[in-house]
Amino acid sequence: MRTQVAIIGGGPAGLLLSHLLHLQGIDSVVLESRDRGYVERRQRAGMLEQGTTDVLRESGAGERLDREGLVHHGLELRFGGAGHRIPLTDLTGRTVTVYAQTEIVKDLVARRLADGGDVRFETEAVGVDASAPSVAFRDRAGRTGTLECDYIAACDGFHGVGRPAVPGLRTFSREYPFAWLGILADVPPSTEELIYAGHERGFALHSLRSPQVSRLYLQVPPDEDIAAWPDARIWEELAARFATGDGWKLQEGPITDKSITPMRSFVAEPMRHDRLFLAGDAAHIVPPTGAKGLNLAVSDVIVLARALTERYATGSDTLLDAYSSTCLRRVWRAEHFSYWMTTLLHVDPAADDFALRLQRSHLDYVVSSEAAKTTLAENYTGLPIG
Ligand code: APR
Ligand code: PHB
Repeated sequence: MRTQVAIIGGGPAGLLLSHLLHLQGIDSVVLESRDRGYVERRQRAGMLEQGTTDVLRESGAGERLDREGLVHHGLELRFGGAGHRIPLTDLTGRTVTVYAQTEIVKDLVARRLADGGDVRFETEAVGVDASAPSVAFRDRAGRTGTLECDYIAACDGFHGVGRPAVPGLRTFSREYPFAWLGILADVPPSTEELIYAGHERGFALHSLRSPQVSRLYLQVPPDEDIAAWPDARIWEELAARFATGDGWKLQEGPITDKSITPMRSFVAEPMRHDRLFLAGDAAHIVPPTGAKGLNLAVSDVIVLARALTERYATGSDTLLDAYSSTCLRRVWRAEHFSYWMTTLLHVDPAADDFALRLQRSHLDYVVSSEAAKTTLAENYTGLPIG
């Protein structure tokens, strides 16, 4: 078996890369270890930067996104019993769009299959040779094979086989002393814009999936048992953390999904070895505050698709050689922003009174200074790609 670009992983990064390469006449095969239903149902943060919506739209994969995506022009920071709006669009000229990652994956899978793309579910990459180059795989029937290629894109997430195949890798990481308990509820959102709440009981986030479905999160201890959180306790805790002095009320409804996500920052350098390129969660993880994970995966594959396009069109390696450093500049900016937003809003169980006072001063500053609001807004809506 042979293709031009072997793509390991059929998450948003692998699927979008395959789609962008196809538009440039470059062949790829996507190997995805899970089944189609699994990748299409996985719940992840669903806030898209303008650069992400632009690439989906311009590449012809944004038709449903344009119909169903909810365009947002601001967000709310809530603390001390009061809300403070950050007018994202007024400050940056850019918008963000709420559109679930499950829907992006569904749209991209449908698009690849309609275009005759080769997406192999339940096919696991088991070995990577960055120099040959080739990928050894095992399909759903247990048969093994080898996919020969010109280049390998490891879009196989944090637990994939791509990253361990990069020798001399340097890694950088932070574990946070908390996790997020996330729920989906069949209730219209109690707010039009997202609410990021800093509260002495812990952080809470009110997001949404559609005009009928709310997505809410609570900061919980990192080793928390989900059984400790019956529905009634979740609503009570959310109400306490979102409470304001002006009678605002959180609407409750049936909870249809409940899970706990650990919080981690992680970067691997470099993002390339020989003919193997790492993209998305395979190379970096951010805590979900600010929803940068998907957007970073998308910017990596935009840079990689451009570089491969140049290589096939002109024979030049210039952009491929710059891939890792180009991506890492944007990755580190998003790492800092996610870390900053996380530490600004969460309660660190080890924080002393001094640290708590500093945190409150920082929050007061962010909502009162145009410069600080603009810093938040330009990072949140997304800095330029490449
Ligand atoms: N062989 C084939 N597929 C694999 C292998 C393997 N050995 N290992 C992992 N995979 C698949 C996983 O099953 C998964 O579907 O790779 C895919 C990686 O997809 P994601 O985890 O969604 O990663 P990525 O495409 O980089 O998207 C990043 O995910 O974690 C979120 O917030 C993050 O939104 C961001 C997005
Ligand atoms: C989400 O809707 O899942 C979401 C939105 C914004 C975030 C994190 C998660 O910062």
